[in-house]
Amino acid sequence: MSLTTEEMIGILILCCHYVYRLCCRVFVLCSLGILSKLDYFEELNIKTIWINPIYKSPMNDSGYDISNFIEIDPIFGTMEDFEELLTGMHDRGMRLIMDYVPNHSSKEHQWFEKSRKREAAYKDYYIWRNCVSEGINIVPPNNWVSKFGGSAWTYDDLRKQCYYHQFFPEQPDLNYTNPEVVKEAENILSFWLDKGVDGFRVDAIKFLLEATHFRDEPLVNKSQDKKTVVNYDDLYHDYTTTQLGLHDMIREWRALLKKKSGEAGKYRLMITESYDKNEIKKTMMYYGTNLQYEADFPFNFLFLDDLSSISVASISKILDTWMSNMPKDKWPNWVLGNHDNPRIASNVGSTHARTLNMLMLTLPGTATTYYGEEIGMTDLNYHNDENEGRDSRNMLQQPMVDRDAERSPMQWDNSTNAGFSSANKTWLPVNQNYKTLNVEAEKDQSSSMLALYRKLTKLRQSELPMQRGWTCFLDNPEVVAFVRETDGLNRCFIVVLNFGDMKVNVNLTRMHIALNGHATVHISIDGRRDYESINLQSVTLDVGEGMVLEYRNSQPVHDNPGPQQKCYSIEKACYVPMIGIFLKC
Ligand code: GLC
Repeated sequence: MSLTTEEMIGILILCCHYVYRLCCRVFVLCSLGILSKLDYFEELNIKTIWINPIYKSPMNDSGYDISNFIEIDPIFGTMEDFEELLTGMHDRGMRLIMDYVPNHSSKEHQWFEKSRKREAAYKDYYIWRNCVSEGINIVPPNNWVSKFGGSAWTYDDLRKQCYYHQFFPEQPDLNYTNPEVVKEAENILSFWLDKGVDGFRVDAIKFLLEATHFRDEPLVNKSQDKKTVVNYDDLYHDYTTTQLGLHDMIREWRALLKKKSGEAGKYRLMITESYDKNEIKKTMMYYGTNLQYEADFPFNFLFLDDLSSISVASISKILDTWMSNMPKDKWPNWVLGNHDNPRIASNVGSTHARTLNMLMLTLPGTATTYYGEEIGMTDLNYHNDENEGRDSRNMLQQPMVDRDAERSPMQWDNSTNAGFSSANKTWLPVNQNYKTLNVEAEKDQSSSMLALYRKLTKLRQSELPMQRGWTCFLDNPEVVAFVRETDGLNRCFIVVLNFGDMKVNVNLTRMHIALNGHATVHISIDGRRDYESINLQSVTLDVGEGMVLEYRNSQPVHDNPGPQQKCYSIEKACYVPMIGIFLKC
């Protein structure tokens, strides 16, 4: 099945740009707040913004517990404000992606209220099972455990049954074996598509369906006493994740998105969220096939899941795992941070955070930036006390690592509350390093992280070889290196990054016969080596140093890959310089 014009345009927009993930409440206040930051986005070449759930919610899980899917929570403004934001973004050629949470609602959703009361139309909107009462204890219908620990079943006094919840008890799972629920999900998507939103990040997708036999899930450690099973990792989740019918549902949603993509230049994006550590094939399924599309891409969490230590080998493995498993003709994507994981600069240190961002923004496909990464924000370092901890994971019987640390307010400048708010207290505390680490301070500093971000995102936006065509990884144990080139252009980019713990000197000409002579530094990690002429026989890089080199190649690298080199073409396209356009080739 070949791509339609809308799909081509949509994918072109996607590939050239990157997705900026922000959280209202800690970035600026939605929706008009975002509107006031459009200049900032423009300076950073951001075209696509993904916002956290802003729907009506009691906020037990930062808005991922929704009590009305088609209303805006007053803390984020009104529907009119939202529409103004959308129009403002579209006027500037920007796109807005919403978070869509189909797996569960809030307990406070009226559907749940009605379901508890067994109102006929809503009786089966959630997953209800009988559970036995043994004195004050309730024996759940089976051993299923919530992702956040403890039984996934909670007893409801009114209905006198247990309901299933994959996350907090305040987030009952919707029952997708009920066709009415399936219809509700489509109505919600249609509502926002009709408003004009540009797509969705679909939350917690693999949990959508459960096995209808409700059998116990198998124990990972067969000898574990069944009564002690409380942790999510104690079980194999054969009956509560990735059930038969899941991909049919996603295809239905894709069809709906496609139907709503008819207007000229309008493309609706779908990104899926599913952590499938060590099960890359499961992740890749969300792309669908070339006959039946599903997501534009499933989020690539390899950097979050697998990067225990930084080395050339560990990074190369991540790159290879994604690129070699991705189905032909699909878009790659790279994620270094989000609202559920420690910030990259805290995880790997500020030096490697820069190099990793340089890598992410020069790889093919879509890059996702979590707000604040562009200035090198780090995790909040404080001990939760009753007043400050916001993530309900603090309040669990067996508390889990909370996610407040990565959700602190955006650091705009060195004024009160980092310029985020003039209130006495913010939702989460401001990171105390804001006095020096902030947008204002980095704005005019040529060696800052922000300056680096601006250059890299500009490069993605303006240079054809960074947008489409070929990526050839050069095999070298000392550096991560790759070439980005486009058929028909004799100008390419070579990216070289030192993820090791020693200064290195590498000979790039040994890595490929097409590489010889000199190249010019287009972007260096701190701006100091920009425009330097580099002899490809002797490229020296300090620890954590990276460079994007501009090179005139006499022959394409992908025409003649060596035995150790892997070349990938992403939606292969040829640039025809005579007429200045891309052609599918
Ligand atoms: C997703 C969200 C996470 C939330 C969970 C339940 O994983 O990213 O923040 O807690 O879904 O909705």
